[in-house]
Amino acid sequence: MGGEEKEEIMCGIVAYYGKRNVSEVLLDCLQRLEYRGYDSAGIAICESGNIDIIKTTGKIKHLREKIDINKYSMTHLGIGHTRWATHGVVSDKNAHPHKVDNISLVHNGIIENYMDLKEKIEKRYALQSETDSEIIAHLIAEKYNGDLLNSAINTVKNLKGSYALAIISDKEPETLVLVKKENPLIIGIGEDEIFVASDLTALTAYTDNFIILEDENIAKIYKTDIKLYNFNGDPISTNSKRVKLNFQMANKGGYKHYMLKEIFEQPKALLDTFLNHISNNHEKIIFNEFENIEDRIMSSKSIQIIGCGTSYHAAMIGKYLIEKYSGLSVSVDIASEFRYRNMTPTDNQIIIFISQSGETADTLASVKLVKKNKITTIALTNMISSSITRMTDSTIYTYAGPEIGVASTKAFTTQIIILYLFAIYLGQCTKRLNDRNIKEHIEKIIRLPDLLDGVIKMNDIISEIAMKCINYEHFLFLGRNINYPVALEGALKLKEVSYIHAEGYAAGELKHGPIALISKKVPVFVIATQSQTYDKIIGNIEEIKARNGTVYAIASSGDKRVINLVDGFVFIPSVDEDLSIFPNTVIFQLFAYHCANYLGLDVDQPRNLAKSVTVE
Ligand code: G6P
Repeated sequence: MGGEEKEEIMCGIVAYYGKRNVSEVLLDCLQRLEYRGYDSAGIAICESGNIDIIKTTGKIKHLREKIDINKYSMTHLGIGHTRWATHGVVSDKNAHPHKVDNISLVHNGIIENYMDLKEKIEKRYALQSETDSEIIAHLIAEKYNGDLLNSAINTVKNLKGSYALAIISDKEPETLVLVKKENPLIIGIGEDEIFVASDLTALTAYTDNFIILEDENIAKIYKTDIKLYNFNGDPISTNSKRVKLNFQMANKGGYKHYMLKEIFEQPKALLDTFLNHISNNHEKIIFNEFENIEDRIMSSKSIQIIGCGTSYHAAMIGKYLIEKYSGLSVSVDIASEFRYRNMTPTDNQIIIFISQSGETADTLASVKLVKKNKITTIALTNMISSSITRMTDSTIYTYAGPEIGVASTKAFTTQIIILYLFAIYLGQCTKRLNDRNIKEHIEKIIRLPDLLDGVIKMNDIISEIAMKCINYEHFLFLGRNINYPVALEGALKLKEVSYIHAEGYAAGELKHGPIALISKKVPVFVIATQSQTYDKIIGNIEEIKARNGTVYAIASSGDKRVINLVDGFVFIPSVDEDLSIFPNTVIFQLFAYHCANYLGLDVDQPRNLAKSVTVE
């Protein structure tokens, strides 16, 4: 992109055709997509032979303030957009929709040959924005000959990159054209009305009947008639499917923030997720998802797990569990690193891709990369019909329900319960675990929701510790063995929502650097629950206290050794080290939440973050 003011966007797209107030529907759907980006937003509505565009920097609520809703009670068609900029400034002119002549569009993605296209276009027109999206609007407008579909088909031939587009024209006020390449786009079919959004959750309040566009699909929607084409303009069949999602779960349900609600929902989310994998007599682990790849799983020699952010931390936990119970070697990778590494495919390798949203660009790129190498791929996702599910050999779903808070909570714990079950499943297949072992694991897993209910009841204690911590600028989190990734996740949660700088470390690494940071100003949160390395963790706490450090700890119930040493603590019931990752995680989530809440921050939509990072 040559350092130009090229913007890359990751965002949410919506569109509506129907008899409801178009602006209301667009705003409502945008609100539900706001987690995808919230720098700026806009809508375009076909009104009396014109297209009205209203756009602004800031959140959907700012956009709402700018719209005269009553004006659009008799209009039928509109498109909308919520933006998250990674390059290029956040400004009104860069906000979508973009309008060129009679064409108006919203775009999610990146046009890779933007510079070439821009050079040609700016010789002929003065550009109004710094966006690649405006260039697409110019191309479509130039090719427009009275048929929006044709001009879109002719334009995609010139585009390189990823894009989901919703396009309207004031010359065809009842036609909506959609284009999908690599970024998601879903059509929701209602009674005499059509909805479009970047994901299902934005639409479940309106319909349960969807067409999920595939790559290189173009849709022409004339009134409520939907026709699909490929990029050559050949008609293709439309298959809609019914997907039931529990819409109730996407409300705040009386909680101040989604994040808190979602933390509290974890006992149920875990139950909903693990019940699918435990036989009725509680004796076996089942993965019906593997029906077609069972042989390949049985003959696998190594496993790799790949993800980004919180999903990468889940992958790290998966390594500990799978290695322990299956005896297979497991490697983990951050997707953005993996995709540029020269990986050497090994025979009989399984790769699990973890992505809550199923849309993270780096994770999807990594799937594509390994597909070329004929490796068995499994997706672990919370999003029904997301892109990753269509790219992998098999999909395991977590049943966390919609997660709206940008900082992932229940998606994470449901990912790790699946990895736990998968580890035991492999142990079951390889006979490393006998029937009694498996039954014991299942019994422990079944008790998990109650265990977490108990942790949630300690919310007030955790909140009090958070209250004492909000004035610190730095924090260290220490954990060891399987709780090391939990420490990383604790630090990530604190950074994400409270903007307090935090680092997670493997406790054994304390002496190799982080100990230099210890002072009264840098408190340390230590996971000191029962474990094979408990004595060593106590040693770490002593080392920190000897240097006048402040220590907060998670300890096993009644552990006097820890409470005599530390400045504050939260107890969890005595559980196996492997299971302790669940309560320990929830404590760190609540701690981060309360810090952010006391600091008066936007907990659900932290600055600069987006829930689904659909660009590289
Ligand atoms: C973003 C989100 C994180 C998430 C990561 C990976 O950074 O803010 O919460 O962990 O993406 O997302 P995925 O949907 O692939 O799990």
